Amino acid sequence: MNIKIKKILNKKNKSKIICLTAYSKNVASILDKHCDLVLVGDSLGSVLYNFKSTRQVTLQTMINHSKSVRVGVKKSLLVVDMPYNTYNSNSLVLKNAKKIIKETKCDAVKLEGGKKIIPIVKKLVQNKIPVMGHVGILPQTDKKFTFKGKKQQESDKILNDTKLLENAGAFSIVLECVETKLSKKISNHIKIPTIGIGSSVNCDGQVLVIDDLTGLSQSKLKFVKKFVDITKLIENGVKKFKSEVLKKQFPKAKHSFSK
Ligand code: KIV
Repeated sequence: MNIKIKKILNKKNKSKIICLTAYSKNVASILDKHCDLVLVGDSLGSVLYNFKSTRQVTLQTMINHSKSVRVGVKKSLLVVDMPYNTYNSNSLVLKNAKKIIKETKCDAVKLEGGKKIIPIVKKLVQNKIPVMGHVGILPQTDKKFTFKGKKQQESDKILNDTKLLENAGAFSIVLECVETKLSKKISNHIKIPTIGIGSSVNCDGQVLVIDDLTGLSQSKLKFVKKFVDITKLIENGVKKFKSEVLKKQFPKAKHSFSK
């Protein structure tokens, strides 16, 4: 088993697992120092390209961003989202997952869904491709983005899905906007780590979209916390640059070349 995956599994019930998304090298290299897992999420569709849905994200876009992230990630586990429509069948998933791994050198792939995708998860695991699951809100296929686990039937289904994913060989599962008591039940019920986003402190680890954490995205989602506001920092830098250029204070001789 990949040593980085083993490390993540060993953290269950001992220490919280730290995960963040990254879409390019420079940010990834900062995250790599502090994260256990870096995810190239298909959230890049809305965050970077203003797409209405992650369904518009292509395999090639994920590969391009993941190649850049790979340059910055040295020690963390690198996971890449398989985009919508790239894992509909056993043959398709294997071809596409192999392409992602070969071209990006990532450690694992992430797929959204429960019972329906179990044969696909098994196919990947049988072929030694590590899989991260994703239940709760499924941005690739859900019509409504409201939290999951309000009704008993829905809770039972999600709990069962996590058990099935574990049995199929997934090494970890993202819980997206799963109700607080349900995320506790799931995290206690399965042996692999749960990584929460909008799913309470009960999960074994937490993930956030980096542009939300840094305030670049201006996200108003309930589960987002802006830990720093880099928009203001960038604006201040840009304003100083503009002012110095207009006043001919930049560039100075030391920034210029003379014979
Ligand atoms: O696409 C993404 O960034 C994700 C995380 C929010 C878990 O799936």
